[in-house]
Amino acid sequence: MRVKLEHLCRSFDGVEVLHDISFDEEVASLAIIGPSGGGKSTLLRIIGGLLAPTSGSMEIDGDPIEFDEAALRNYRTTLGFVFQDGGLFHHLDALENVALPLRTVHHLSEDEAQSRSLELLERLGLADSLKKRPAQLSGGQKQRVAIARALAVRPRLLLLDEPTSALDPEFTTEVLDVVRDLKDEGTRFIIVTHEMGFARHACDKVAFLYDGRLLEHGDAARIFDQPQTAELKRFLSRLLEWSI
Ligand SMILES: Nc1ncnc2c1ncn2[C@@H]1O[C@H](COP(=O)(O)OP(=O)(O)O)[C@@H](O)[C@H]1O
Ligand SMILES: [Mg+2]
Repeated sequence: MRVKLEHLCRSFDGVEVLHDISFDEEVASLAIIGPSGGGKSTLLRIIGGLLAPTSGSMEIDGDPIEFDEAALRNYRTTLGFVFQDGGLFHHLDALENVALPLRTVHHLSEDEAQSRSLELLERLGLADSLKKRPAQLSGGQKQRVAIARALAVRPRLLLLDEPTSALDPEFTTEVLDVVRDLKDEGTRFIIVTHEMGFARHACDKVAFLYDGRLLEHGDAARIFDQPQTAELKRFLSRLLEWSI
């Protein structure tokens, strides 16, 4: 999928937090990395049509995205979202968490919603957890339910914002494995992550956001092996400081 951003800027209350972001790449799997507060979530939300830029333009596969609410609502229904906290309904079991939006937002029949949800939850290794509510699931299982829900709408692009940053390390691996498997099966995604091993080895492209600017982007190997800017070099060396 071609993602083209031209001169995107975004301000909150008159303060600009994204500065002149331009990007034009074929995206199958893209990691957005960078320090906290750098604008990663804001950029992902704009790409996902959850937020309009203050100025600039965006094209997906050559189609210009209009930023009025009606057009954005339409556009959003073609995407899947996974956030840090999963955002599951606490009073619903895993199966219903996936099936409910299919019926209410996407107008699938009861049977279709049920069978599609079952199929996905089984594929993500949750066949034994269908009737469990979020409180009865581990953090990793909750995120897998959230991923199943995002995939259930058959999105053309999956957007994940730090899906593992609230998880213990063993659950982090379990969730990243799922995303890697999805990629191998052809799911396209953009992920905001602090998991550099994942960005490097499971993503084709990497974008480095620093202080609201897109300082570098390109092939994952190039970004990690030959960082060009002092900011990226420093960011990577800080991360590697305590790695084994
Ligand atoms: N809704 C908002 N209102 C005001 N400021 C915001 C809002 N969302 C983000 N910001 C500000 O924009 C900057 C970038 O934030 P964010 O995109 O969340 O960065 P990251 O995801 O890289 O940590 C931060 O300074 C943050 O405080
Ligand atoms: Mg963020």
